[in-house]
Amino acid sequence: MRLNRYIASAGLCSRRKADALTENGNVKVNGFVMREQGYDVKEGDVVEVDGRVIRPADKRVCIVLNKPKGCITSVGDAQNRPTVMDLVGDIPERIFPVGRLDCDTAGLLILTNDGALSQMLTHPKHKIRKTYRAKVGGLLSDARIARLRKGVDIGGFVTSPAELRVLRQTERATTVEIRIIEGKNRQVRRMFAAVGCKVIELERVAVGDILLGRLKEGYYRKLTRRELAYLDEISRK
Ligand code: URA
Repeated sequence: MRLNRYIASAGLCSRRKADALTENGNVKVNGFVMREQGYDVKEGDVVEVDGRVIRPADKRVCIVLNKPKGCITSVGDAQNRPTVMDLVGDIPERIFPVGRLDCDTAGLLILTNDGALSQMLTHPKHKIRKTYRAKVGGLLSDARIARLRKGVDIGGFVTSPAELRVLRQTERATTVEIRIIEGKNRQVRRMFAAVGCKVIELERVAVGDILLGRLKEGYYRKLTRRELAYLDEISRK
């Protein structure tokens, strides 16, 4: 495994940062400073960063959790509120959530012990599509839909064009599927607020080609081999 990936997959930093650390002489392999960024780490090599031996997670773990509303996306909480980690407590590897969903948003959350994968999924350059199902108050007019599709100002940031599809519409509420490529804080809620609509319910149903499907709320599943291959393919781009 290439040195930068080895360091990143230990959850220490990004691959780019790992390259910088290597160049600056902070990395040792088998006791010797290693400045060769392209070094291929072999079985039995001991890699140190800043004097600390690091080991990438023995095994890459990557799961999809159907996060319920009311738990927070964090590895711990000073106020002792329920976190997503309470739902995956039986996994021995040190996994962590990739990006975040608000406490009151449900749906698809990826957790992994692979720092490089997490960086890739959240890096804007990959433009990973995130698909949400949102129930908003009242009727959503065509004009508002057009504005959301074009991009709206959510306070110092204009969103990229979004894909939007109305699934259900009554006088009281409209359910839509909205697909965005950025991951700004509370972005979907802020987008609807920008066109004068309040989100009543929000659920993430897909990240790229990874679908929530019929996974029950509060449960998780491992990514399939095909889904992992899809993520590796994007990483190479
Ligand atoms: N947009 C939101 O408003 N909330 C989320 O949790 C995710 C996207």
